[in-house]
Order: sequence, then C-alpha cells, then structure tokens
Amino acid sequence: MNVNPDWAKRFQRSPDSATSSTSGPATLDPNNPLRSQLQQAYSACRTDTLALVADLENKLFYQQAHPDFSPVGWHLGHIGFTESLWILEHLAQRSCIFPQYRHLFAADSLPKAERQNLPNLETLLAYLETLRAEVLDYLAIAPLAQQGRLWCWLLQHESQHYETMAMVLEMHRLRQEAELDRAVAAFHPKPKIFPRLPPPQPSIPIPAGTFEMGCDEIEAIDNEQPAHLVCLEDFYIDPYPVTQKEYQQFIAADGYQTRRYWSEAGWQWLQQAQVKQPLYWRSDGDWRDVPVCGVSWYEAEAYTRFVGKRLPTEPEWEKAVKSLVAEVTLATDIWGDRRFYNDSDCAKAAIPTQLTLTDSLAHSLAYSLGQVWEWTASWFSAYDGFSAYPYQGYSETYFDGCHRVLRGGSWATRPWARRSTFRNWYQPHVRQAFTGFRCVSERCI
Ligand code: AVJ
Ligand code: FE
Repeated sequence: MNVNPDWAKRFQRSPDSATSSTSGPATLDPNNPLRSQLQQAYSACRTDTLALVADLENKLFYQQAHPDFSPVGWHLGHIGFTESLWILEHLAQRSCIFPQYRHLFAADSLPKAERQNLPNLETLLAYLETLRAEVLDYLAIAPLAQQGRLWCWLLQHESQHYETMAMVLEMHRLRQEAELDRAVAAFHPKPKIFPRLPPPQPSIPIPAGTFEMGCDEIEAIDNEQPAHLVCLEDFYIDPYPVTQKEYQQFIAADGYQTRRYWSEAGWQWLQQAQVKQPLYWRSDGDWRDVPVCGVSWYEAEAYTRFVGKRLPTEPEWEKAVKSLVAEVTLATDIWGDRRFYNDSDCAKAAIPTQLTLTDSLAHSLAYSLGQVWEWTASWFSAYDGFSAYPYQGYSETYFDGCHRVLRGGSWATRPWARRSTFRNWYQPHVRQAFTGFRCVSERCI
C-alpha cells in the first residue's frame, strides 16, 4: 500500500477534461476522475462541517470565544461566501446571489469583534445549501482542466475553517469548564494515544543529502510551490511528538519559572501570558501518553532547551517525514486515504493501538502524524519563485517575519489539508490551535 499517496494520482488531470471548455457541450463525464473525486470530496467535507455545528447552542454560535478568533457562525458564513465568490462569481461568471452577506463574510471587511451580529443558524444553513446546490450544478459541467486548481483550493479552504471552528469550540468548552468548575464534554473526539514502540525509543537518524521540498501538484497551495531541491546535514528526529508525560517533567522541574530555558521573546511573552501548562492539558485516562497540545511556539522552544534538543526546521521536518513514511507499510493511510471518503473518523479507529516487534521507528513516526500540529523553527516565508494564488493576501500577507510554520496536522485537520508538504502558520504566541511539537538534535540523545 502506498503510504505517502501522491495527490497527483488522486487528482489526475483527465485527458477528457483537457478538451472541454466553457463553450463546449455541457455534459458530465462520469469517467472523469477529477470531477467525480471533487464531487465526493466536496460533499464529504461539507458533511464534516455541518456535523460540527449541528446541535450548537445559540450562544456558542454567535459569541467570540477569544479576541483573536471569529465566532463559529461567522466561519460558517465565510465558508459559503468564499465558495460563492470563487466558484459562482469568479469561475461561473454569475453575479453574487446574496450581496447582502458580502460585507459580513468577506475576510477583509469587518474586524473580528464585529462579527457577532449574524443571521441565525437556520438562515445560514439555508444560505450554504442554496450556494452549494449551484456550485454542484456547475461542477458537473465546469472545465476542470483550466479550473482544477481553484476547486482544490476551495476544498482546503473549507477544511481549514472547519479546524478553526473546532478550535473555537474547544475554547468555549474551556471557558465553560472554568465557569462551572467541572469537566464539560468535548464537541469532538480528542486525540487518542498514538501507537509507538515501547520506550526507550532513540531518535531516528536522517542522513545528510538532498531531497525535494514542496509540491507542484494541482492541489498544492501557493506557499508549497515551487518544488525545489534542498540539501541538509545529518540530524536526528524524534519518532513522536513530545508527550504530556515528558512535558510534565519540564513543569515539575520549574520549567515555567526558570529563565534560562526561555528566549528573550519567550520570557517576555511568559511574563505577560502567565501560563503554567499547555492550554489543552489533559488529566483524564491515559493522559501521560497523549501528545502535548496547546503550546505556544515559545513553550515548545523552552522545552527543547530543557532537554538539550531543538525544534526541526521546516526542511528537516519535511525530509524526515517524506523519507520515513515512504519506508513503511501502515495498517492505515494517515496521509489521506480518507481524503475522498465520507466517514471521517474511520482511519483513526483503524490505527493499531500497539506497535509490534516487526514495526520500526519509522512506523512510530508515521502513526504519530496528524495528532497535533508541530511547531517548526522556521518563519513562514516564500520559496524562491513563489507566485500568489488565488489572491495575494492568502499567503503573502503572512510572509512578514511574525509567523512560524507548523507541519503535520491535528485530529481536527480534514484529510484534504493533510500532507507532508502542507504549511500552516501562526504567530508564536498562539496556543489555541492544536499545537504540539517534536524535537530534533545533531546527536542521538
Ligand atoms: C493557514 C489556517 C492560518 O485560517 O487564517 C483560511 C487559512 N486563509 N482562509 C487562516 C485561511 C484564509 C489560515 N491558516
Ligand atoms: Fe478564509
């Protein structure tokens, strides 16, 4: 089984679609792989999105959970607005069906604090449904040879807003817990323990040499392109992200009070943030073996100093993952077999609970992916030859030296945004995203 599926194969450009055009006969070609895959993927992604908001209380729907994040309801409307803007207006050349929502749901109009005055859930669901019906009608005839990239981008746009909604719901839940002073059930299954070989597990050597970084396929986001060769020295990477048990040692050793583990910027942040443990710290069940989740980049950096290691750079992370995941055969495909399936959690359930003797450290690494986003040492910046798509502000605005890159994906990352080349980004103080990290070092520690 190919464990590092190449999106190129999934999103094959059909020879037929190359001959269709806007002026050509509008017939659905059932053998067109891209068309039918998009149809399935769009509905699977939407099923996830709707499930997340299905039973939401009004309060949680309208309210901001944190000043840096919009309310869940805004994200829902923005998903619909973005679909209508790029597919219906831009590709299908129709006029805007719901001009009254443009100001509210465009990403660049209202400040986040003014996004709480929303239509109710029922109205928004009807808005999404009306747009989606138009979008699917158009998808049946759209000239995908020319438009495929935008269709793939939009699917990932919804996937990413799904994850942000999941984050906002977690923040609401934490606030409720603080108010009620008792545990409140999660909206979504949390990461399970990930399988790995019994400890002690050494870190994995990645030999020096060149690899291809980035991705030029149709689904690649602008910031993943162009693919290019990168040469790295030897290094060692940990086979799994830092667990709560490991991080607990940092807490117990007064890591949060010890200046020398922190960078200047990190210490400053800590004085003002006044935190003592990761945001999504768990104390239930097998809490020791779950990956740390909800740390700022500064906390990750401080921990790596505590253990005498460091965060991987982006190329290091990508090279390690590309080479190791390609090496092993997995019981389930963590990078995306699920991408075109409807039942989002099936693959998670199929991940073995324990690794066996024949499994390697590479198995440990492969199965640990997709539980938490992993902070890297790198600032978010353009690869040489970068070209903005579909609009300048999508990535380019964030190439500002203020955002660090995260790799991998969390339990809330939909399959369409999970791959070894995908780059997520947040400012270093952000801990509301489902963020963890793994360490690297020059020596085997
Ligand atoms: C890459 C997740 C940081 O949510 O701001 C969604 C993705 N960009 N709509 C974000 C995004 C525009 C972006 N992140
Ligand atoms: Fe958006």
